[in-house]
Amino acid sequence: PLFVLPIGGADMPVVISLLNSYSGLAAALAGFALREPLLIVTGALVGASGLILTRIMCLAMNRSLGHVLFSGFGSGGGGGSAATGADGGERREAVVRTPGEAFHALEAASRVVIVPGYGMAVAQAQHVVHDLARLMQANGTQVDFAIHPVAGRMPGHMSVLLAEADVPYEQLVEMDEINARMDEVDAAIVIGANDTVNPAARDDPSSPLAGMPIIEVDRARSVFILKRSLGSGYAGVENPLFFAPNAAMILGDAKKTVEALVAEFKED
Ligand code: TAP
Repeated sequence: PLFVLPIGGADMPVVISLLNSYSGLAAALAGFALREPLLIVTGALVGASGLILTRIMCLAMNRSLGHVLFSGFGSGGGGGSAATGADGGERREAVVRTPGEAFHALEAASRVVIVPGYGMAVAQAQHVVHDLARLMQANGTQVDFAIHPVAGRMPGHMSVLLAEADVPYEQLVEMDEINARMDEVDAAIVIGANDTVNPAARDDPSSPLAGMPIIEVDRARSVFILKRSLGSGYAGVENPLFFAPNAAMILGDAKKTVEALVAEFKED
């Protein structure tokens, strides 16, 4: 068990899935020893599916399995609160906006991308997020939902939540596709996502997230980030996006904030 201690942050689910698959392989081996075909088959199924899931997660995070197991991810960096940017210069204060202030920018936008993350699941905000998308569309805005492969806590987490809220499948756009058109986006609304939009993963080779592909919301004309604090996400790494010149935080529970935005659109 001590072997997995240095592995931390976002890599842990990969390890859990790998250990899970080992349990299946062990059962299959026990099946051979006991000459019990049923045990061999079920063990092999658990073992194989665990290995497949492990591989999918590694691919989504752009890390090799060897890197996950031996690099001691998350044990060093992250969580720091130094007031300097990635380049070592003074960092600007995070701008905090009210939903009312954000409304004016969203009302004027012709292209909006909504980027959901784990916080949307915590707040159970998916239904009201769909209401907001409908209102913006009625206002003439093109609205897409950008889905990161490891947003949330399990594969397909965001797609399942949005499907539950009846968001049409055609409105969900994959990471690579949305990144290719990010320069045309007027406003990105980040709803409880953090690691999956952290530009340090792309820009800072020393970041524990380095190498993980992200949804590049920092390239949109403006970004609104809906979360409760300036705190870090799953990997425990600070997010320079919050201090970017085109970014503003709307602090509070994501569901309450989106409800407030919906109310602004309805009043209008
Ligand atoms: P995270 O980086 O986990 O960040 C979620 C953010 O949601 C937190 O920073 C939190 O900030 C905010 N939040 C929590 N409750 C909220 C609420 N009620 N209202 C508003 N915001 C709330 O999210 P992500 O971008 O989706 O990234 C997923 C992470 O999980 C990645 O690191 C990924 O590797 C890892 N992971 C993924 C999977 C799969 S397969 N999807 C499995 C395991 C782990 P505040 O506390 O400031 O509100």
